[in-house]
Amino acid sequence: MVKNGIVIFISGRGSNLNAIISAVNNGMIKYPITAVVSDRYCEGVEISKKNNLNTLIIDYKDYNSKLTFEKELIKRIKPLNPKLIVLAGFMQILSILFIKEFKSKIINIHPSLLPSFKGLNTHARAKAAGVLIHGCTVHFVNEEIDSGKIIAQGATSISKECSEIEIEKKILNIEHSLYPKVIAKLLNKEININENDLILCYYEK
Ligand code: GRF
Repeated sequence: MVKNGIVIFISGRGSNLNAIISAVNNGMIKYPITAVVSDRYCEGVEISKKNNLNTLIIDYKDYNSKLTFEKELIKRIKPLNPKLIVLAGFMQILSILFIKEFKSKIINIHPSLLPSFKGLNTHARAKAAGVLIHGCTVHFVNEEIDSGKIIAQGATSISKECSEIEIEKKILNIEHSLYPKVIAKLLNKEININENDLILCYYEK
């Protein structure tokens, strides 16, 4: 197992994980995936195993509190000395205990143009609100949900006629192109956390 690489946290389908694996395999991301960590058994675990990645299932249901779960996460992740922790559909809200351990090294992708539509069911809420531009945001993770510094946003137009499924598909496509690019740029130090380097992509269609 190669240390000092990327550690990816998942909980579900793993389509962003897949996009990141492809970007490592095709050389766009020049650092290895040190581990894939899942808080439950899920589809993403199969993707990780199929790609022979170091796959750790740390099931949150095996711990009687968030504190003990996060302590176990820290115990297992710290020795890997990750350069970047990438949340890709990870369904736990990390507390300050974990965030402090990996300061400025944790990023997330959220399926809305933050600060609009924090939390869950973003596409349904965007549709109900009648927004015309919708998208996704890559941001640093802090102790408040979906509130850390924005690094990049990908946007597209949506209309009342779009179904929620169509919107999800459209936004996921953007996520799969944007997230690996941001990871590569952060690791190459082309984005400096202390500066206002914002990447904004508008995807027509
Ligand atoms: C994505 O929509 C991402 O923005 C959100 O969770 C979903 C994860 O999908 N944080 P997947 O597991 O990567 O397919």
